[in-house]
Amino acid sequence: MKKTQLTRRKLLIFGSSSIFVAPLAALAASTLPNIHVVKNPQCGCCNAWIEILTEKGFNVTAEDRSGSLLNKFKTESGIPREMMSCHTANVDGYFIEGHVPASDIKRLIASHPDALGLAVPAMPYGSPGMGPEDEREAFDVFIISANGTAEVFQHYPKAGIPV
Ligand code: CU
Ligand code: CU
Repeated sequence: MKKTQLTRRKLLIFGSSSIFVAPLAALAASTLPNIHVVKNPQCGCCNAWIEILTEKGFNVTAEDRSGSLLNKFKTESGIPREMMSCHTANVDGYFIEGHVPASDIKRLIASHPDALGLAVPAMPYGSPGMGPEDEREAFDVFIISANGTAEVFQHYPKAGIPV
């Protein structure tokens, strides 16, 4: 009886100390699902976006697909034509189309809405991977539902204008 209690106490101490030892960044990263990016090999901005996601704690894998195959993949993922951008990613069962900020992807994963994914259509200047944030043009992140409708998920005003 006494022996069992001691063992359990030891385990508790061991468990809590290992949590304190683990770096905070590693803990945060381990809770984020992997993100897989399908992109055009000629596109440099896709790599810039991947770099930003990696900095924000995502584990990113990438794959090149040229023109028509990439478009086919977008259509099959349920991305409406007017929502299309350069790269298409997959995370936690959702698509992520274009230069979507990492914070919006994190919010999508945490809130887990009934939707197909997020999109930033075209390539707005100053969105992540598309030039300096302090020169950003206004853009919206849309959430796309299964019936193809798009709603604003997050609005980003032009740089210098408060949110
Ligand atoms: Cu791009
Ligand atoms: Cu891209």
